[in-house]
Amino acid sequence: MRSHEAAEWWRSAVIYQIYPRSFADGNGDGVGDLAGVRARLPYLARLGVDALWFSPWYASPQADAGYDVADYRAIDPVFGTLAEAEELIREAHALGIRIIVDVVPNHCSDRHVWFQQALAKGPDSPERELFWFRPGRGPGGDLPPNDWQSIFGGPAWTRTSDPDGTPGDWYLHLFAAEQPDLNWEHPRVRQEFEDVLRFWLDRGADGVRIDSAALLTKDRALTDFDPEDPPYPHPYTDRDDVHDIYRSWRAIADSYPDKRALIGEVWLPDAQRFANYLRPDELHTAFNFAFLGSPWQAGELQRVIDETLTIHAPVGAPATWVLSNHDVPRHVTRYGRADTSFNLEFRQLGAPTDLTVGTRRARAAILLSLALPGSAYIYQGEELGLEEVEDLPDSVRQDPMFFRTAGANLGRDGCRVPLPWSGQEPPFGFSTAVSDAMKVEPWLPQPKAWKDLSVETQTGDPDSMLELYRAALALRRKSAQLGDGPLTWLPAPDGVLAFARGVTGDRSFICVVNLSGGAVDLPVGGTIALCSGALESGMLPNDTAAWLVR
Ligand code: GLC
Repeated sequence: MRSHEAAEWWRSAVIYQIYPRSFADGNGDGVGDLAGVRARLPYLARLGVDALWFSPWYASPQADAGYDVADYRAIDPVFGTLAEAEELIREAHALGIRIIVDVVPNHCSDRHVWFQQALAKGPDSPERELFWFRPGRGPGGDLPPNDWQSIFGGPAWTRTSDPDGTPGDWYLHLFAAEQPDLNWEHPRVRQEFEDVLRFWLDRGADGVRIDSAALLTKDRALTDFDPEDPPYPHPYTDRDDVHDIYRSWRAIADSYPDKRALIGEVWLPDAQRFANYLRPDELHTAFNFAFLGSPWQAGELQRVIDETLTIHAPVGAPATWVLSNHDVPRHVTRYGRADTSFNLEFRQLGAPTDLTVGTRRARAAILLSLALPGSAYIYQGEELGLEEVEDLPDSVRQDPMFFRTAGANLGRDGCRVPLPWSGQEPPFGFSTAVSDAMKVEPWLPQPKAWKDLSVETQTGDPDSMLELYRAALALRRKSAQLGDGPLTWLPAPDGVLAFARGVTGDRSFICVVNLSGGAVDLPVGGTIALCSGALESGMLPNDTAAWLVR
């Protein structure tokens, strides 16, 4: 066991993201739930992950799939009960798996009691101070208070009606209209979220994932700005005062004798500003979206890896490696496109893809990610090699991004399709309590071809993605050199990444990834411990990774 593992477990952990509505459905209503997860905990233990991060499971009208929270201390009935969540935490702990819950502090649901009261009490009421209510501009206040755009498309403001029915003030929402932004200058907002943090840590959560962590604080002048030439600090992103919040949260996390992790969702193009969130008295780790967005290209990957390690070193935080999550097209699809890069403004949904190529690269990519220093994330279904489902009919789509852009942006439903577990026909064992008489379809339809990608089909097939993940995770656990620790690049031909893990004098674990376009001789000697594809006449084929020990 790595010496720091029990202490700062997040420095080396492999964290599996559960998107509850799409993982497994234990009550047969077509939507995943906690009963489904509890029934599959042995699967996750066997997969070999260290922790589970749950996308929101709270009471919510589900306008943004649970990222619109109506009650931060209750479980949505569609997922189960608080007692079941507590039971799930205990069961996971008994299997040696830690639990991370999602906290959504930038906004709540428009059904949250605070927002309902704010609407009911009307303009100038203290209840409205918890949000960003403002009069409109122009004649009759018919225009939004400023020109900010919602991240999901359209204006970031929605007009309310006063209690007497006349058109009233507008409120700010950086995401959907059902997600009013909270005013983090208000002490009650700060107090409430500190209490919510304690509520979940007291129930045994080993950490929290903080949604939209760089957005919380706003310039109270709410001035217009030019998105082509945004000022710095930005009026609603990465403002210096957001860091005070995380310093308070860190003190709370540190007040628990066993280690509790604060993990930030920080989308920022500026690597140095990103690292500011990881200073010793702030968050423990944050998602590395630069790695996720990197094209499948050796030079660019090496540059991102180096930059990541360089910015993390001075703040003493471990790096993280992420390939996919519930907001981005699945990487099997991304890696099969002509342009393999990704960013939020460049989703390329519908761009042609070669899934054979994408899958081959995804196999190599997981060996790369799991060999890099720090912690790694797995998004549910990537261990099955699932692709982005790009041909969902518009009638089943649910993502507010799709609706707020009038379909111009297809949104994120394609990476949220329920997992295939077993059988030859949809729902592929996703809904376990379904009887033939009461057949309920999964909330999004699964491709018929996923019969070949189910857990049942892949289990025991040594060439499957699932068995590659299982083998890699088992080897990672056994290899003291992996997880947190130093990395040393080794000489390698153009287009080939080769690095050793382990301390000076024992750099005995080596990862080689070939992105050169043709087969290459392995640049170093050693015994192959795991390979993402078969060698060809002793050479490492293109888009293939190998782990070697010596
Ligand atoms: C984060 C979540 C995303 C959600 C948004 C608003 O980016 O990951 O799914 O829609 O915040 O809460």
